[in-house]
Amino acid sequence: MMMMMMMVVVGSGVVALILRLMSPHIRKYAAGGVCTSTARLDGKTALITGANTGIGKETALDLALRGARVILACRDVEKGEEAAAEIRTRVGGAQVEVRELDLADTYSIRAFAQKFLREVSHLHILINNGGVMMCPYMKTADGFEMHLGVNHLGHFLLTFLLLGALKRSAPSRIIVVSSLAHYFGWIRFHDLHSQGSYNSGLAYCQSKLANVLFTRELARRLTGWNVTVNSVHPGTVRSDLVRHSTLMSIMFALFSMFLKTPKEGAQTSNYCAVAEELESITGKHFSDCVPASVAPQGRCDETARKLWEVSCDLLGINWN
Ligand SMILES: NC(=O)c1ccc[n+]([C@@H]2O[C@H](COP(=O)([O-])OP(=O)(O)OC[C@H]3O[C@@H](n4cnc5c(N)ncnc54)[C@H](OP(=O)(O)O)[C@@H]3O)[C@@H](O)[C@H]2O)c1
Repeated sequence: MMMMMMMVVVGSGVVALILRLMSPHIRKYAAGGVCTSTARLDGKTALITGANTGIGKETALDLALRGARVILACRDVEKGEEAAAEIRTRVGGAQVEVRELDLADTYSIRAFAQKFLREVSHLHILINNGGVMMCPYMKTADGFEMHLGVNHLGHFLLTFLLLGALKRSAPSRIIVVSSLAHYFGWIRFHDLHSQGSYNSGLAYCQSKLANVLFTRELARRLTGWNVTVNSVHPGTVRSDLVRHSTLMSIMFALFSMFLKTPKEGAQTSNYCAVAEELESITGKHFSDCVPASVAPQGRCDETARKLWEVSCDLLGINWN
């Protein structure tokens, strides 16, 4: 027994030592692709949802550094102002603004868009970044299942309302932050809001697949407008996203060395927002600043069209 305990202690020590020695290499590998574009965004306006923390905040910081006017669309204005203040201290002369937007409430989305169009009017970069993962069964103000409502339908409506400004500002770009998790999702048209049965992981995967299908259909519909739309997998990133899952929080804490920092996680969003070589690239999916493959269920035009129609019906909009 004593011998076994000693072996466990020595073994753990050896593993810890190896990890410590290897950590610079592991970190470099985990960091993934880097956006190397030096493009400036002076005179351009960018809007990022869920920009008060995590990947969104780092994306905003990068765009502010490039000279863009950056609008942080956050449901909690106080948290948004803290993020904006942090960006201002890091970027002299940063043009950062916070506006209230709750993606779980179509009234809030409409009010946000109305005010935005009245006061800003032009929009060159829209980053649909905000999201929730693995929350307990909840509904949005409009009765949509929370993952589908925030991650997909909220952004669907926001994009619909802001599309005129994006077209007026062309060339412009839309970036949809999806996930590799879309591989494990399918669109459950018979029970979109998981009323029959609910699994928080599958609900997240469904919403991330919806992001990919939305990108595909929107790109097709925007042909000729000089407005591109691409989706992104940011990598596995140390952020607040796992807040609803104790298991995921523990896993993320234990394996943090293998995860990206939010700054590293923002690289692909920033790449899609600014890279000169992507000027006319649309309807694609990116990860680590290179094109990435899409799951077969994310490449089905029929599903993409059907999801589009169902989304319009749910939101009561006519988007032809
Ligand atoms: N982290 C990863 O490993 C990973 C992997 C793949 C994809 N992603 C995707 O990356 C995106 C950003 O995630 P993150 O990792 O940066 O997570 P995060 O740190 O939790 O940030 C999510 C952001 O979304 C906002 N948000 C949530 N519900 C909202 C609502 N109803 N209205 C407006 N904003 C809302 C949050 O605001 P509050 O702070 O007020 O809650 C927060 O600002 C998400 O779309 C996520 O699915 C992340």
